[in-house]
Amino acid sequence: MSPFRITRTLPEDAMAAALRTDVRHGLTGDPKTLPPKWFYDAHGSDLFERITELPEYYPTRAEREILAHRADEIAATLPARTLIELGSGSSEKTRYLLDALTSLDTYVPVDVSDSALRQAGQALTAERPGLTVHALIADFTAGLTLPAAPGPRLVAFLGGTIGNLLPAERAAFLTAVRALLSPGDGLLLGTDLVKDEDVLVRAYDDAAGVTAAFNKNVLAVVDRELGADFDPDAFDHVALWNAAEEWVEMRLRSRADQTVKVPALDLAVHFAAGEDLRTEVSAKFREEGVAAELAGAGLDLARWWTDEAGRFALSLSVVR
Ligand SMILES: C[S@@+](CC[C@H](N)C(=O)[O-])C[C@H]1O[C@@H](n2cnc3c(N)ncnc32)[C@H](O)[C@@H]1O
Repeated sequence: MSPFRITRTLPEDAMAAALRTDVRHGLTGDPKTLPPKWFYDAHGSDLFERITELPEYYPTRAEREILAHRADEIAATLPARTLIELGSGSSEKTRYLLDALTSLDTYVPVDVSDSALRQAGQALTAERPGLTVHALIADFTAGLTLPAAPGPRLVAFLGGTIGNLLPAERAAFLTAVRALLSPGDGLLLGTDLVKDEDVLVRAYDDAAGVTAAFNKNVLAVVDRELGADFDPDAFDHVALWNAAEEWVEMRLRSRADQTVKVPALDLAVHFAAGEDLRTEVSAKFREEGVAAELAGAGLDLARWWTDEAGRFALSLSVVR
């Protein structure tokens, strides 16, 4: 069996420093915000997996449907020897690509979640003895470097996670990904599509309250890592559609006038009753917008596939 390797590209103290910077910046800003990458400690990663199984959360099922029908076509267009997956999480849907890419030598899952990478990497190594799995604990927005691995290389960014980046962050991210690619390499990008507001909002505000628990988990992370005294019960989960920006926002709304202490930052943060802390944006896309953003980074949209109901898209760009 090929060994499973897991490498930290950023030392733990650099991740801790990034959390401090993000929390200070986000909680002292107006409006208050926190970046979504901090949802994903082990508990947050488990909650996300539960979200993917909810009846309201269609993106995972829609993207799986596309992969089930198109993985062979993707592999024929780009017969990758190395598959790099950004924000890989459980790598559950990735199995369609791993099955279809018959010349694949190395799989490089990249995630901030140590626990998700370990679980997925160990399972895949046991299932696929011929595959080298080299997991990277890394922030894909912070100067990604990749291990040497045979080409052609396919970078997959699934789950609609690109929608969690703001437009300027997306442009910088796509430019950085393009810089990693050589002729013959490609990018497979999953994007959730603009649709009926009710369907979108329900996907982020399920009846069972799993997304609410996921949203509040970021407060538990700040409490544990920075000694803060956020009370998750003092905030309500809010999901809303921002029609001007074409994104869903998740927020935590303060139930009362309150002050939260963050001792590690020597910070006291006042929340007025009804004040929101924005914890995630999830942008929804149209084909022409995706093509324009890819083109802005020097990538051509070569193929575009949607699920039968037109809810979600996968696009493939190949570098010439
Ligand atoms: C929405 S989930 C998608 C997971 C999986 N790709 C899927 O399609 O089900 C986002 C994943 O990206 C990871 N993630 C979020 N921000 C990240 C960042 N800045 N760098 C690396 N991984 C990140 C999370 O830990 C999580 O596993």
